[in-house]
Amino acid sequence: MQIDGSTKLVGVFGSPIHHTASPAMHNAAFAALHLNWLYVACPVAPERLQAALQGARDMGFAGINLTVPHKILAIDLMDEVDEEAARMGAVNTVHFRDGRMCGFNTDGYGLAKSLQEDFNLGLSGKAVLVLGAGGAGRGIGVKAGLEGARCVYVANRTLSKIEPIEAELRKLNVPCHPRPLDPEALAEIIDQVDVVINATSIGLSDDQTSPLPGRLLGARHYVYDTIYRPARTRLLEEAAAGGAKTANGLGMLLHQGARALEIWTETKAPVAVMRRALRGVVYGEAS
Ligand code: ATR
Repeated sequence: MQIDGSTKLVGVFGSPIHHTASPAMHNAAFAALHLNWLYVACPVAPERLQAALQGARDMGFAGINLTVPHKILAIDLMDEVDEEAARMGAVNTVHFRDGRMCGFNTDGYGLAKSLQEDFNLGLSGKAVLVLGAGGAGRGIGVKAGLEGARCVYVANRTLSKIEPIEAELRKLNVPCHPRPLDPEALAEIIDQVDVVINATSIGLSDDQTSPLPGRLLGARHYVYDTIYRPARTRLLEEAAAGGAKTANGLGMLLHQGARALEIWTETKAPVAVMRRALRGVVYGEAS
């Protein structure tokens, strides 16, 4: 597609941002849809987020994705926030509509879609253990409640960060059990858990540690790691060795992006094209 005077711009703000796989995924989608749109990655420091969003709005961008460290900061900058983003306390997708900033969170949708696709699993009625209570952990804990989980255990190094998740789950009448992120505390509950979701950064890139001892995991468990680089974290390797069903977070990244694209373009996302582009840029697979 030729960039010209009618090209619509969208993009992602983050800091750092050079590792992002989103431009490849979205630009492949725009090409497949014959849309004269372009997705760019912008390094934006947290203290410049408001100015950057206002600038994008005023320059006629259609929308912006937000990644670390912006998702929580952005919520107070929006003119409107949809219900799921408000419950999660975080925005990952901004849609500029009639000069207004409208905030959405498509991460939960991405997770639910990925669990369905990778495991044929819905969270309704399940006991879910979320490891981590940062931005990602909070969104996932709340999404588990929205999907009708039977109960949600949240384990985190810093216990106080679990409080906002507990408060949201209380509103949904879903029992929430905070736990420290330590092997003994997790050993006590693991036999009651159906689904384990890692939302800590433990295992990312060349970190070969795991948030949970693999010996605790077995055939009754579905183990999902939101990390997709590397493709198999130590958590997933050990879980699979113990007989658990495992999947990494590439599907969540894919489907949160597909949903964001649908919000901006009001066109059905070409998911297969986006998946191929993502696997190409993340794992070097030929498309
Ligand atoms: P994100 O937006 O990806 O969730 P974040 O908000 O920085 O990023 O959260 C990172 C998560 O990984 C947190 O749950 C963090 O635990 P704390 O809340 O105690 O900081 C967890 N985490 C990161 N490194 C960790 C480590 N070495 N040990 C235990 N937990 C860790």
